[in-house]
Amino acid sequence: MPARAVTSNQQSLHERLLELVRRHLDTPFQKPFAQHSLAALAAFRAWRDPTRPLVLDSCCGVGESTALLAARHPGAQVLGVDKSAHRLAKHRHGGDEGDLLLLRADLNDLWRLLAEEGVRPSHHYLLYPNPWPKAAHLQRRWHGGPGFPALLALGGQLQLRSNWLLYVEEFAAALELAGIASRLSEVLEAPITPFERKYLAAGQQCWRLDADLSRG
Ligand SMILES: C[S@@+](CC[C@H](N)C(=O)[O-])C[C@H]1O[C@@H](n2cnc3c(N)ncnc32)[C@H](O)[C@@H]1O
Repeated sequence: MPARAVTSNQQSLHERLLELVRRHLDTPFQKPFAQHSLAALAAFRAWRDPTRPLVLDSCCGVGESTALLAARHPGAQVLGVDKSAHRLAKHRHGGDEGDLLLLRADLNDLWRLLAEEGVRPSHHYLLYPNPWPKAAHLQRRWHGGPGFPALLALGGQLQLRSNWLLYVEEFAAALELAGIASRLSEVLEAPITPFERKYLAAGQQCWRLDADLSRG
């Protein structure tokens, strides 16, 4: 069955978006860290070679994009993170994947833990995060959630992709509030994730936002 396009009861930027982003930018997020996120941090520390660039693939799902990014960033260490052990377990090793690590963690924790450690990825990919299209779920979108300041603090060249244009436009507005410019374009290359492949095969448009978070 072809993937269905995102439908939402929201037709334009959420009216509470900027107020919410401002609140999260102004208020430190202090929720205690989940045990498995702390275990992920320990595994990251054991693996990390700080002399090499780090590429982060957040919400990596089955890690297909993580392997592809390792090929696209030779010499870098590539970290894929997802909260779903089920998805991560489906990762298929495709021969030489370079220096790649897949970790199970809640990114609301791990972004904050990594940022506090001073970790600064050169590139950060956020490919097809769950859109949470209901207006009432604004806070579950990454730009509307309490983890957004940690994402900004990590810095690097950020690339977000989504099949829901409004998600990307809201993300751009949230970045702008934080003083960060971004560029929006359509994904015209071959798919780099399973979700992207599904959406493109169904004839949907996919969108890409690029931002340099080191210039915040
Ligand atoms: C729509 S899937 C996209 C997966 C992959 N990037 C792709 O394009 O095929 C969204 C992924 O985000 C993960 N995710 C959602 N919330 C998360 C969180 N708080 N921490 C880590 N991963 C999360 C889900 O487990 C899921 O694998």
